[in-house]
Amino acid sequence: MTMSRISFTEHYAAVMETMTKRGLLLCAYDAKGKPNAMTIGWGAVGSIWGIPVWMVLVRPSRYTFECIEHTGCFTVNAPTEDMSSACAMCGSRSGRDEDKLAAAGLASHKAQHVLAPIIEHCPVVYECQVVHSNDVLPSKLSDEILSGAYVNGDYHRVYYGKILNAMAAKDASSLLK
Ligand SMILES: Cc1cc2nc3c(=O)[nH]c(=O)nc-3n(C[C@H](O)[C@H](O)[C@H](O)COP(=O)(O)O)c2cc1C
Repeated sequence: MTMSRISFTEHYAAVMETMTKRGLLLCAYDAKGKPNAMTIGWGAVGSIWGIPVWMVLVRPSRYTFECIEHTGCFTVNAPTEDMSSACAMCGSRSGRDEDKLAAAGLASHKAQHVLAPIIEHCPVVYECQVVHSNDVLPSKLSDEILSGAYVNGDYHRVYYGKILNAMAAKDASSLLK
């Protein structure tokens, strides 16, 4: 799949729709350099501090949390529909216990601008460097969200990743349908 550099706003609608349908793959290397991928259904792209930013929410129980804490980098990868079963696997098993990419039949290579893996055959990918993080505070949450998303605690850490590079395949939006 030939990828070209894009503006971070390009293919926005298709990426957001993919996130709500089958999830996106949030990827990072662990301390030993093993690539890991975790499915995410929550996140946002925007402009903060005058820079393009991906905000992702990661619970401390996730292996991905350890990985991002270690490297300070991540990628966000938008998968095609035929990667749906790989997304389900990456969203239910932990890279703490196995090489999840191998188990899911996914291949990766190192990103160009950050120390994080990119999943091959994803039509849109973003390379991000953490510039800030903060933790979701139970005392500041509405009762609705507290009782819905945090019955077991495990309050997300929100990572703000400066988008250093965004790449897409030609016709990425239709490939994501
Ligand atoms: C559709 C879907 C969306 C998910 N979204 C998130 C999310 O935004 N944040 C999060 O911490 N976990 C989320 N998860 C759960 C993680 O993907 C799951 O716990 C995963 O096994 C963690 O992998 P890891 O331990 O290798 O990091 C989601 C799972 C699915 C199936």
